[in-house]
Amino acid sequence: MKKSSHNQLIKIENKHWLLSEPKPKWANDIEDGKVLYFESLPFKINKNEIKLFSPNILKPNTRNISLNLDGSIKGAIGPEEDIEALKKMILRFRSQAKNLIFSAFPEYKPYLKLAPTSFRPLEVSSRVTSWRADDRRLHVDAFPSRPNYGERILRVFINVNTEGAPRVWRVGEPFLNIAKQYIKKIKPYSPFYAKLINLIGVTKSLRSEYDHIMLELHDAMKSDLEYQKKSPQITMPFKPNAVWICFSDQTSHAVMSGQHMMEQTFHLAASKQYDPKKSPLEILRTLTQKKLT
Ligand code: SIN
Ligand code: FE
Repeated sequence: MKKSSHNQLIKIENKHWLLSEPKPKWANDIEDGKVLYFESLPFKINKNEIKLFSPNILKPNTRNISLNLDGSIKGAIGPEEDIEALKKMILRFRSQAKNLIFSAFPEYKPYLKLAPTSFRPLEVSSRVTSWRADDRRLHVDAFPSRPNYGERILRVFINVNTEGAPRVWRVGEPFLNIAKQYIKKIKPYSPFYAKLINLIGVTKSLRSEYDHIMLELHDAMKSDLEYQKKSPQITMPFKPNAVWICFSDQTSHAVMSGQHMMEQTFHLAASKQYDPKKSPLEILRTLTQKKLT
């Protein structure tokens, strides 16, 4: 396996969620598509929470539990006291994830939109259903039903495994390299097809050409087994209490193993980045010479 020549993983030495002084380098690195990580940040699991770390807390046929912004929870089953405990634990993580992102990237703060928080109690290998949904393959995040028109997906992850198991990730090459490799091979955008799938409810809103390209890149990477094996990449085992952040619509990533993780997503308009030119939207506009939206 070729090693990535680019250093796609950047360690930050801080020991607390609230960073006292943001460094311009962090914004620069994360907007370059790197993964920033903290080896260990404090996240205490209380005694009454230990029992929540089991797939039994998941509703049948569900992969993740998600805590919505209105406080309602989706995907969990169990006695009310367990559900309440689960909510409290996820909320603790949400509040720490906000501390982290707001203090690391103060200029994003007024523009960030908080998404639901997710808890993933399934062992990674047991949640695979198809190649497209197989997150053990390197990919950039793009979602078939949810067009985002270039809005960024900023994610905070924590490994909350209580038995010492790492969450093993692979991190691939920079977005520009990926886009350059596949842009000529992907299916052309069809406005007619986009309208059709919107009409029949496949998408929540009209899939734009930008969203089409992002989905095609996601699929092209995942379906290319040669690429999966041979493209520049590094493997990173994140230990329990490790916290890592990236723009997952830009950073090529895959999860190989692990169980029990929490994740907080924030959305950010590409125009509100420290440098909007580094966004997938701008990169794809330049490559296609089209005013993509
Ligand atoms: C993904 O975003 O592809 C999955 C990440 C994870 O489950 O660790
Ligand atoms: Fe992903």
